[in-house]
Amino acid sequence: MARILITSAIPYINGIKHLGNLVGSQLPADLYARYNRMRGNEVMFICATDEHGTPAELAAAKAGKPVAEYCAEMHEVQSGIARGFRLSFDHFGRSSSARNHALTQHMARKLGENGLIAEVVEKQVFSVADNRFLPDRYIEGTCPNCGYEKARGDQCENCTKQLDPTDLINPRSAVSGSTELEVRETKHLYLRQRTLKDKLGAWIDSKAGWPVLTTSIAKKWLNDGEGLQDRGITRDLAWGVPAQFEGAPWRGMEGKVFYVWFDAPIEYIAGTAEWADANGLDDAAWERWWRTDKGADDVTYVQFMGKDNVPFHTLSFPATIIGSGEPWKLVDYIKSFNYLNYDGGQFSTSQGRGVFMDQALSILPADYWRWWLLSHAPENSDSEFTWENFQASVNKDLADVLGNFVSRITKFCRSKFGEVVPEGGIAGERADALVAELETRVRAYEGHMEAMDVRKAATELRAIWVAGNEYLQAAAPWSVFKEDPAQAAAMVRLGLNLIRLYAVLSEPFIPDAAETMLAALGTKDRTWPGPIAEALAVLPAGHAFQTPDVLFRKIADEEREDWQARFAGVRS
Ligand code: 2FM
Ligand code: ZN
Repeated sequence: MARILITSAIPYINGIKHLGNLVGSQLPADLYARYNRMRGNEVMFICATDEHGTPAELAAAKAGKPVAEYCAEMHEVQSGIARGFRLSFDHFGRSSSARNHALTQHMARKLGENGLIAEVVEKQVFSVADNRFLPDRYIEGTCPNCGYEKARGDQCENCTKQLDPTDLINPRSAVSGSTELEVRETKHLYLRQRTLKDKLGAWIDSKAGWPVLTTSIAKKWLNDGEGLQDRGITRDLAWGVPAQFEGAPWRGMEGKVFYVWFDAPIEYIAGTAEWADANGLDDAAWERWWRTDKGADDVTYVQFMGKDNVPFHTLSFPATIIGSGEPWKLVDYIKSFNYLNYDGGQFSTSQGRGVFMDQALSILPADYWRWWLLSHAPENSDSEFTWENFQASVNKDLADVLGNFVSRITKFCRSKFGEVVPEGGIAGERADALVAELETRVRAYEGHMEAMDVRKAATELRAIWVAGNEYLQAAAPWSVFKEDPAQAAAMVRLGLNLIRLYAVLSEPFIPDAAETMLAALGTKDRTWPGPIAEALAVLPAGHAFQTPDVLFRKIADEEREDWQARFAGVRS
């Protein structure tokens, strides 16, 4: 039995995520976690909400709530939606947890003791009215290049010119609009990642089997231009992990917190500790996943994320881990995704363009979305959600192929033999050919799942469903029944067993339908198929079942048009 540690990039706390976010990390991570559990591997699957940083503070202010209260509420919201999508986290933690505070400070202290933290005094814009330092992008003003009046202090979104806040004409605070801005001196901690460049480079070079998308981004950041830069890991904010703490190897960092990107990945570890706490377990229970000196040396660790997260996971987080000098588990494989676009443009959180996770669940059950998103995952290039494609894929793959197969077999059996697996007969040559085809296809499916080739796995699974449908069409037990009821019985017995096989194979993609199929068949047997002939003999003659309701309903044209109009933009 293998031990697989899986983390999904942790979503920011502010706001509900759209389907593009979902398919870029949490959903494929869930697919992989479910698959490994079905194969009997020991899985630890961790996600969390990413709760620190200026966006969280501003979203709380906008909602008129203290930030801690806002985060607690939004965590519950995101957690409920994750359950709705059947994301099977072993723990959905919070980066603001006591565990993460302690572990983040511990890591920082180790880095400091190892000479990897520099104290740097720099000049930054302070807003007197807001009584705070402002990050560059929270300073607005007129672009000196194009005259756009809402240019941000880091970049003008109109002409794309990179800016410094001091370049802006008539600068003002984006928080309050105040123009009472001063440049003040402030001290920050920098992680001296540059000194780790060679170690990081060698580590990345050792990962020959990583996806090109992952390694190309990592190498670009490592070597491009001036190469890896030392990185400020503290911010002048109130909400976050305090940078001044007992035992810290520095002084004078009161009122500052660690940068959100410093503490967020540490939450993968802290979230596993939260899992242990929540289950009344001791530290050894989570350390065996993370400490190579305490049992984690045989763990395979896989991370899932969108491509924008790759630099932080290939360079910054490993710099923290390696720099700590402690035996923490480093990631073994990074599965990264391109972007999912929405109906001819981009998903946009600010403009409410596209389908958000809560809205998706309010119109259709999770399996419909899971199937479409995973079978169209943006793996090798960006991909696009269109309502036409979604409708076609649901109606064809789920309703016509899988749903129809289940319904035809169970209904035919009920009408001719009653709701029990019928006995006797021999199914014949066509059945042998089907078994042979499935033997090849199921092994190919396993290969794709293990390689995390999500689209290829979906294509193979669909072909496995199609094979059953085509068999049924050609074997036509309803015709055979008139001449040879025993042979028809054998065909139906095979068909009922195929439903169980489909439930097991499809569980990682469509867990609710899998449950419905197994419940209808009156079996809890989720054994992953070895030889297919054996897997198709699990339900014996005489075993009772119940004909299930429609597994998947079709999407009508009017509904599709209605949704298309509803999600075109500006979410209220
Ligand atoms: O891009 C995002 O949504 C970030 N919140 C991901 C953080 S992943 C990690 F570092 F924990
Ligand atoms: Zn401009």
